[in-house]
Amino acid sequence: MASRATIERSVPAVPVQKDPDILAAAARLSGEDMCSIADLSSAEVRAILKLGHDVKSNPREYRHALDAKQMVLMFEKASLRTRLSFETAINTTGGNAIFVDQTGSPLGERESIADVARNVERWVDVIVLRTYAHDTITEMAANARVPVINALSDFEHPCQALADFMALEEHFGTTVGLNFTYVGDGNNVCHSLMLTGAQLGANVTIATPRGYSPDIEIVTIAREIAEKNGCEVRLLQDPHAAAEGADAIYTDVCVSMGMEHESTKREPIFRPFQVNEALMKEAKPNAVFMHCLPARRNAEVTDEVLDGPQSIVFDQAENRLHAEKSLLLLLLGGLANVQSFQ
Ligand code: CP
Ligand code: NVA
Repeated sequence: MASRATIERSVPAVPVQKDPDILAAAARLSGEDMCSIADLSSAEVRAILKLGHDVKSNPREYRHALDAKQMVLMFEKASLRTRLSFETAINTTGGNAIFVDQTGSPLGERESIADVARNVERWVDVIVLRTYAHDTITEMAANARVPVINALSDFEHPCQALADFMALEEHFGTTVGLNFTYVGDGNNVCHSLMLTGAQLGANVTIATPRGYSPDIEIVTIAREIAEKNGCEVRLLQDPHAAAEGADAIYTDVCVSMGMEHESTKREPIFRPFQVNEALMKEAKPNAVFMHCLPARRNAEVTDEVLDGPQSIVFDQAENRLHAEKSLLLLLLGGLANVQSFQ
């Protein structure tokens, strides 16, 4: 049986109970929403990851932190990782998950999103949404008195990016000064990675085909954050130039959920952006390969790279659980129930 721990865990244990970032984040984020990485400060992003590492190392400490908390997941799109990691996160901290399949009934169609929010907040402690329109998430957040978490919209996938940078911290020890390269569509995953990288002091390089670059507003925000943190966000159109000197190369599908009608047009445009062994050779010799999954094998990434020794894709997937547990603990005030935090 293959070991889950293929990558050496290099993050030292941190005294989380005394960590000022975590204590400040616990106070500020309790009751807040998580719609975008841009809603967080750099210290709060660091805190979520630090707590995530501790939750991963000491899961028993947090087993009753969210006792009796009710979470609803309302998903307009398919999911494997996000649904199961959120359900496992709440179930292993004492709470309970209720899944509502919205794939055949988009939110806002049967009744207004505000009315959904005003009902659901009466029964549950947190609302986890996977939607098409990002506005569905912000509208739910504006109307619900319980935290709303973005579990992917067309615009952002913040929980993914938190788990991904947690995997990078495990692998490299820190992401400060790390050269992080994303190759492919300037999509939801790209947006959240750009923001998270900037928050954590990484140099972020994005290579997309012309016309598929990330949203300019997100780029502007990410660059403002990067400037404060002494790092940079570069936009290129050449995947080879972007790969040069990279510590991590990340890609995602070129046809996201909801864009299927554009497959025929997009596939040839994105072919030169495939991550294959030749592209990986242009990165640093110890570079890692990353993907949010699901992957379209031999389209945006070859089997050799996805299954190869540089790939950390399943560590990323595993860390969805730990990063989301950390986020739930902070948004739901769960640390107040953890003995070592008393
Ligand atoms: N990476 C990710 O969000 O996977 P799912 O679509 O399976 O949830
Ligand atoms: N960009 C992809 C990510 C899936 C996890 C999508 O939105 O479909």
